[in-house]
Amino acid sequence: MALSNIRVKPLTAAIGAEIEGVDLSQPLSEDTFNAVHDALMSHNVIFFRDQELTLEQHKEFGRRFGDLHIHPAAPSPEGHPEILKIHADENSKYVAGGAWHTDVSCDIEPPMGSILHLHTVPDQGGDTLFSNMYGAYEALSDKMQQFLSGLTAKHRSEHVHGGRYDKNGKEHLRDGEYPEAIHPVVRTHPVTGRKGIYVNSAFTTRIMELSRHESHDLLQMIYNHIARGVDFQCRFRWANNSVAFWDNRCTQHHAAWDYFPNIRSGNRVTVQGDRPV
Ligand code: SIN
Repeated sequence: MALSNIRVKPLTAAIGAEIEGVDLSQPLSEDTFNAVHDALMSHNVIFFRDQELTLEQHKEFGRRFGDLHIHPAAPSPEGHPEILKIHADENSKYVAGGAWHTDVSCDIEPPMGSILHLHTVPDQGGDTLFSNMYGAYEALSDKMQQFLSGLTAKHRSEHVHGGRYDKNGKEHLRDGEYPEAIHPVVRTHPVTGRKGIYVNSAFTTRIMELSRHESHDLLQMIYNHIARGVDFQCRFRWANNSVAFWDNRCTQHHAAWDYFPNIRSGNRVTVQGDRPV
């Protein structure tokens, strides 16, 4: 039986690893798939260099991990509804992911993972920061962990996607159809069994069991804790044709927009997940 010969090089002990020895444009053997999956479970976000991918190859790689998610609002290239374009240039008024978040947590079954391929990156800037939500949870006091573990929160999308995609969004999304969901504030990862924080500053609007003021202040405390938690973060420096694959169930990410007016461009494939518990 051929064993995978991929190499896993951690970026930090807390989160992130670069994977060498795999060509994502080719079908993965069972051993290589298992090794990549294990690396994702251990390091929460994994990175690949020098990957030239067509949209079809990008989607095929994603499909090894599950059905592909179709973004509820963002436009996609003709014939590729599963592709989310990530692009910024001198005309951009915003960038996707410019605040700490996990992807599309407004869905009832939010994505398990996202696979971003950037074919064009600026000479300086444009890093993506990743934060480990197991680490964020474990860095809280026992009392706070217990308190948060009994709470649920509403995640909404209209305020995120409405203004952005109203005019050029998908045909099927109309008023009142923006997804929203209620999820536990602390979720248990379905593979590792570890607990992690599952509220984020983009989509989460309200902790259900608290008053509006209590909810606002507690969410702010959690977001501050995540943002200043440099001991459970890593920062990825992109090059043309790098790929990042993050596990949305146990990470958040933040795309730095420190390269305006330069171009940063690529495509994201998003893998469906299950209902958080
Ligand atoms: C995203 O949130 O998917 C965008 C991340 C990035 O552009 O680095």
